[in-house]
Amino acid sequence: MVGMSPPRGACVLRPALVGLASLVGLAALGACGGDDGGGGDPDASTAVTYYQHLKPVIDAKCVGCHDEAGIGPFALTTYDELVEVAGVALQNVESRTMPPWPPNPDCADYVGDRSLSDEQIALFRAWVDGGRVMGDAARPAPPLEVEQVRLSRVDKTLAMPVQYTPRATSDNPDDYRCFVVPWTETTDKYVTGFRAVPGNPRVVHHVIAFHASPAQVAEYEQLDAAEAGPGYTCFGGSGGPSQSWLGAWAPGSLGSDLPPGTGLLVEPGSAIILQVHYNVLEAGVEPDLTQVELKLDDSVTRPARIQPWANPQWLGSQLMHIPAGEADVMHSFEFDASLVIGGPFTIWSASLHMHTLGTRATASIVRAGGGSACLLQIDDWNFHWQGSYGLRTPPVFNQGDKLRVECHFDNSPSNQPLVGGQPRVPTDVYWGEGTNDEMCLGAFYVTPQ
Ligand code: HEC
Repeated sequence: MVGMSPPRGACVLRPALVGLASLVGLAALGACGGDDGGGGDPDASTAVTYYQHLKPVIDAKCVGCHDEAGIGPFALTTYDELVEVAGVALQNVESRTMPPWPPNPDCADYVGDRSLSDEQIALFRAWVDGGRVMGDAARPAPPLEVEQVRLSRVDKTLAMPVQYTPRATSDNPDDYRCFVVPWTETTDKYVTGFRAVPGNPRVVHHVIAFHASPAQVAEYEQLDAAEAGPGYTCFGGSGGPSQSWLGAWAPGSLGSDLPPGTGLLVEPGSAIILQVHYNVLEAGVEPDLTQVELKLDDSVTRPARIQPWANPQWLGSQLMHIPAGEADVMHSFEFDASLVIGGPFTIWSASLHMHTLGTRATASIVRAGGGSACLLQIDDWNFHWQGSYGLRTPPVFNQGDKLRVECHFDNSPSNQPLVGGQPRVPTDVYWGEGTNDEMCLGAFYVTPQ
């Protein structure tokens, strides 16, 4: 029963790998020796291999989207699948295009950060350069320990009223549709966790759930009734007065609990507005029935609210002007937000919202005593990868501080959305909800301090 010790010769790392080995802990992962003797071939035992090194990273960071049912254009669940796209995958990994994770890491630390570490990127490069070796399938490296950000309990499931088939074509592949879902609880409830379950992940690009208060419901019912078929067209938001997100889902998200002790009040008589963005480019036109799952509690110690942030003067005016043809137009806004909340407050998560002309945006606290605290910085805005990012160290906003949102837009001919397959001709753009309008909005999940 005594295991053979590995031949010493098999345990010498090639010089080129030594630096990398200490970075990524190759030796600890079993590249060097092991209970079973290490095989005796120096190259085989020291090369970066799929099974011994890369697979846990791919499984943890890519497969959530790149599996058969996922939103990614191909699966990355096996060695053969990865080898086939290894070159382009490495490019995407090194440019940090994949996995999609928009926040600039120098701004703040976020819960559930999906990005790869420098070491993991170096490992990917070493695997490609080292000949894309498969390694020993019988001894795969253990799965990575990744932070478990997921919904811990489901108390209520809400679904779109009926199936909907996106009204989209290959020329106009996007359809933004809002569905009004009645809220049936008869007592006050706090939403303390959220997850969306796309009915058909091949066509659902993202989902946002808005809370319509009892006073707002009639307006949404009118929107719904005014259009044929289930729901109504909406683009930048819910199409109506609510800016209150209950939660948002983008591919790869497993949902999450809201920070412990906090929750969002939903009163009896409310409605949930589900905004679903369909894109039929990959899968073609297929029906969908999306659901959201909620964790509910009767009370919380810190009732929260989602505070949308924009210059009220932009709404319904032409103040937020983005002239046709200009490549970098900046609009910003700052204000002592404690006047709205009624005192100091804690910021638990931050999101930014623009439409398709947006290029970069920042949300920050400008401190009364000087200095600032970065909340969220997106350097390469992509309308399709919007999210709300939980701050690992939630900052407190004090009276006298200013909450600042800054947005940049490119309205030059080279940055126009496609309309019917053709880039739109630049035209003056202002604040609004439609595809041809823009927004500059920060939204923050806050509790009174
Ligand atoms: C959150 C979902 C998600 C995750 C996680 C993700 N991808 Fe992707 N990937 C996509 C989507 C969606 C596309 C299609 C292009 C797009 O919409 O950006 C894509 C496209 C790609 C492409 C093709 C790009 C091109 O230039 O054609 C490659 C290669 C790729 N992903 C590799 C990876 C690798 C490797 C990982 C993990 C390190 C990863 N992806 C993680 C969603 C994801």
